[in-house]
Amino acid sequence: MSLLITGGTVVAPTGAVPADVLIDGETIAAIFAPGRGPEGPDVLDATGKYVIPGGVDVHTHMELPFGGTHASDTFETGTRAAAYGGTTTIVDFAVQRTGEVVADGLAAWHAKAEGNCHVDYGFHMILGGVDDESLKAMDQLVADEGISSFKLFMAYPGVFYSDDGQILRAMQRARDNGAVIMMHAENGIAIDVLVRQALARGETDPIYHGLTRPAALEAEATQRAIQLASVANDCPLYIVHLSASEALAAVAAARDLGRNVFAETCPQYLYLTLEDQLGAPGFEGAKWVCSTPLRSKHESHQRDLWRGLRSNDLAVVSTDHCPFCFKDQKELGLGDFSKIPNGIGGVEHRVDLLYQGVVDGKLSLQRWVETIATTPARMFGLYPRKGIIAPGSDADIVLYDPSGRTRISVETHHMNMDHSAFEGYEIAGKVDTVISRGTILLAGGAYHGRKGHGKFLHRGLSSYLN
Ligand code: URP
Ligand code: ZN
Ligand code: ZN
Repeated sequence: MSLLITGGTVVAPTGAVPADVLIDGETIAAIFAPGRGPEGPDVLDATGKYVIPGGVDVHTHMELPFGGTHASDTFETGTRAAAYGGTTTIVDFAVQRTGEVVADGLAAWHAKAEGNCHVDYGFHMILGGVDDESLKAMDQLVADEGISSFKLFMAYPGVFYSDDGQILRAMQRARDNGAVIMMHAENGIAIDVLVRQALARGETDPIYHGLTRPAALEAEATQRAIQLASVANDCPLYIVHLSASEALAAVAAARDLGRNVFAETCPQYLYLTLEDQLGAPGFEGAKWVCSTPLRSKHESHQRDLWRGLRSNDLAVVSTDHCPFCFKDQKELGLGDFSKIPNGIGGVEHRVDLLYQGVVDGKLSLQRWVETIATTPARMFGLYPRKGIIAPGSDADIVLYDPSGRTRISVETHHMNMDHSAFEGYEIAGKVDTVISRGTILLAGGAYHGRKGHGKFLHRGLSSYLN
């Protein structure tokens, strides 16, 4: 089936131009000057709308076993919510826990996702135990399994933590096999000391989660990861969920030296704060317990993160979607903040929340598309299949209505959560139509997607390797 999208403004990192887009089956066939497309195909009128590549969210945790419970979105509910929000590709994290075989962890994640996803999906691999076997497995995953990125943790001792020697070995391996190392950069050993001291003083409320994870310990770990990557012959390093000005400064300095260092941030760090959300009265703040934590509004973090997005010191915006319900899940930490499962759900709202940055004059239209779709696709070996509107690319397209409005609420969202981290936020724009590989998932407010439509993406190497 072919479909001609007419009358819209196609947005790419290189510019925004009025153009018509022809879809043939699952791919984009051609782009025409307005009115120059063929007669015959069905027509989708995009007058007044931006025509953008489907969002690519490279940091989600559907069904993650974590903090004594499981992330509350399944691959089915989470990818459906993603589709509603204009995200047509996710890259989730398969997990190898300490003592487990990497291939078994990967097989378990395939079993969770296969046949259940509404949008296309790929996997990174979390290495919870770096040893001879898992290092060998890295090569095999890159060569045969379409998995070309590995997440390591400098935080969570006893859970996912790797020491510096393990990190260095994984980085050396990645340098050889072409993978990207993704780093959760917080000094978990020092944080655990601060957590124990806080609890001993009777400081048990959610805000102490943030106060025991100071920016200095994010910056120290970020700097250490950068130095370890340098020792590993400039292994490509991608810092995940960066939240602090000091950590951003470390990334920026490395990039100024031409180093192979990249970073992402997430909407929660651009909009929410330690005082207003994590410090909400009573136990309410548990909704916003995540790591790295929300930062103080009295410091420069949010201003610096927006600037980092403009300057490309922050290359990507992902969600780190890791939802837990308040009832029974976040409540596991009543009376002890260290037992609150870490994570915020937001896979449905990233495209909108970053568009609000365009409206507020903090981001250009082009940079919006680049940070939510094009760069994540390039970074993780999905480009040009994903992340761009170009002939030959998958027909993953969102019509975005700048005259629409979106109000974020638990009453209307589609994530499997009993609250919204962004409750009441108003966006001056709206996801109007969502197309995934030529199939219309959302149009005119009606959802037409189905589980099983989403296919596993066998990823190549990062476009940013040097
Ligand atoms: O709080 C978070 N970020 N939870 C998800 C796991 C992780 O560290 O990304
Ligand atoms: Zn993390
Ligand atoms: Zn995460």
